[in-house]
Amino acid sequence: MKVLALSGSPRKGKTTDRVIHEILKEVECETEFIRLSPLNISPCLACLSCVKDNICKIQDDMRSLREKIIEADAFIIGAPNYFSMLNGITHNFLERLCQFRHQSCSLLAGKLAVVVSTGGLQPEIPARQIEKIFTYYKIDHVGTVSAQGAASCFTCGYGENCEAGAVQMMYGAGKRITEDIIPDLSRQPEKILAAHDLGKLLMRRLSQKVSNFTGTA
Ligand SMILES: Cc1cc2nc3c(=O)[nH]c(=O)nc-3n(C[C@H](O)[C@H](O)[C@H](O)COP(=O)(O)O)c2cc1C
Repeated sequence: MKVLALSGSPRKGKTTDRVIHEILKEVECETEFIRLSPLNISPCLACLSCVKDNICKIQDDMRSLREKIIEADAFIIGAPNYFSMLNGITHNFLERLCQFRHQSCSLLAGKLAVVVSTGGLQPEIPARQIEKIFTYYKIDHVGTVSAQGAASCFTCGYGENCEAGAVQMMYGAGKRITEDIIPDLSRQPEKILAAHDLGKLLMRRLSQKVSNFTGTA
């Protein structure tokens, strides 16, 4: 059994990555964690050249992910909210799964998946979008954890005085940025617990799949 965890956050080690790692703590099988942002993954170009053989012809880093995706029994996919949407890095990746969708989705159908989503104000939004995309690929959604992350405005250096930024959006004008108001996963123990529970649930669902397949249930 193999679980492939993919983080679409460009910020290494921040909230999206951290929640994924909390889930992985409870996943007792082979796992691989890949950050998408260092990879060059174009959006789908709708060229339809994958229709006959389910192989995308774009020459980029999705080629090296292809076999890993086919081999994986389950995915963990994490994405941050950018402008009330799934961020572009993750969206490109999810678009490119379209190569597996032709001819009855046979290559992704029934694979299990867990969603992680983060946001400064609305962490749930990317999850709803990823869950919707799963339905197109017949991916079996196991569960979701959404957690609040720190918007870059808390550390950009201008956050206290910026009318367009997240700090004023959250606290109004005149708020001083102190450590205790910067959102952090360590202050969301219920989210860490939810991530662990989801990791355990994923393991149970994977084990069920194996026993159904081998007839040992
Ligand atoms: C370009 C950009 C746009 C963002 N837009 C939103 C938004 O519309 N709503 C929201 O809740 N958070 C927004 N955020 C905040 C991020 O979702 C938040 O910082 C999240 O924790 C990022 O994930 P990470 O910590 O794993 O990098 C935005 C961040 C960036 C960089």
